[in-house]
Amino acid sequence: MSLRFATAQCWSWLQAGLGRLSGLPLARPSRFTLVLTDRCNLQCMFCSMWNRRWENMSTDLWKRILDELVDWVGPMHVVFTGGEPLVRDDLPELVRHASSRGACCEINSNGISLDERAAGALVQSGLRVANVSVLGLTSETSERLYGRRDVPERVRRALLSLKAAGGHGLRIQMLTTLLAQNLHEVGGILDLAEELNLEGVQFQPIYQHFGDNHEGVAWFQGNPLWPRVSDATVCLDLIIERKKRGGRVVNPLEQLELFRGYLADPTHCRKPCVAADASLVLECDGSVYACVFKPAGPLGNVQQMALRKLWTQPAARRIRDGIRGCRAGCAVMNMNYRTSLSVKLGKYMRIYHGANSRTRG
Ligand SMILES: C[S@@+](CC[C@H](N)C(=O)[O-])C[C@H]1O[C@@H](n2cnc3c(N)ncnc32)[C@H](O)[C@@H]1O
Ligand code: SF4
Repeated sequence: MSLRFATAQCWSWLQAGLGRLSGLPLARPSRFTLVLTDRCNLQCMFCSMWNRRWENMSTDLWKRILDELVDWVGPMHVVFTGGEPLVRDDLPELVRHASSRGACCEINSNGISLDERAAGALVQSGLRVANVSVLGLTSETSERLYGRRDVPERVRRALLSLKAAGGHGLRIQMLTTLLAQNLHEVGGILDLAEELNLEGVQFQPIYQHFGDNHEGVAWFQGNPLWPRVSDATVCLDLIIERKKRGGRVVNPLEQLELFRGYLADPTHCRKPCVAADASLVLECDGSVYACVFKPAGPLGNVQQMALRKLWTQPAARRIRDGIRGCRAGCAVMNMNYRTSLSVKLGKYMRIYHGANSRTRG
């Protein structure tokens, strides 16, 4: 992380804190999820994005939005996602545009069409982080999750292409959603991360179909995707054990422990969510949400109002106030997890004591 970027992050956290204390609209989001499209080249059984048909904004409109964002928040981290962002031919152009304005660009992809040419174009455009979804390595799991058997080999090609194109400048991570059908594959997925020398695996547990069908709090009961608690426990024990042994698990231990509670009871999380102040989700039709799971309506639409105004206007603040500290857990298990201050302090204390004892020794 560059010093400029870290300073901007600290500044936005400080503003969020001051905003909460004073009641003034000072908070600016620090995590930007841009849903470039809802179109997809897969039909995963656990996701509903591929079934949507929302408006998809033009390249020029997205560039204007990226400019607005940079002018508002300065150096920032943007995640281009979807649907499948690679179904848009202009993805490298948008990454290049955002990078040229100082943004650190990340993509989430299913890897299906990520061949050497596509990987090369993205890396040359300035891509910094590539997250490739890997939910299984066998053709049997592939058949169950996607209704086709070739996804694992395509994903492997994607990872190798990114490695070949990226040199040392690109961070490549796997994204693995934990569900009943793939818990037995987790050890192999971690082995693959080691074999290919990737940054690691970012796990997230299954949630009800992404933000579009709100089936109520009991969505998981009788749901074939929902793992048995005993299977989830065995799997989490393995992930935690591998993490402690230096395995390539990206999630912090604290978040992995939260997974246990969530998988036993997904209706309540002991850690409150930060999305209300920290996250901005821009949908492919220009509608803006604070949380990707859409517990409340949109804050507005960027085609009708400038982003900064949209985020701070009274109606949007009321919506954000309504979800502040949400304990539904879904987003905390996912992209809106933030390491607790106590855990961070504990880590720094350990580093400090370690350094001191080495000096004394
Ligand atoms: C919505 S996809 C979009 C990007 C791209 N199409 C992909 O699959 O990586 C982003 C991530 O969400 C995960 N995901 C989809 N549906 C989910 C669900 N119901 N619960 C938890 N994660 C889910 C996918 O596995 C993927 O890692
Ligand atoms: S998880 Fe990704 S690849 Fe699968 S249907 Fe949803 S958007 Fe498409």
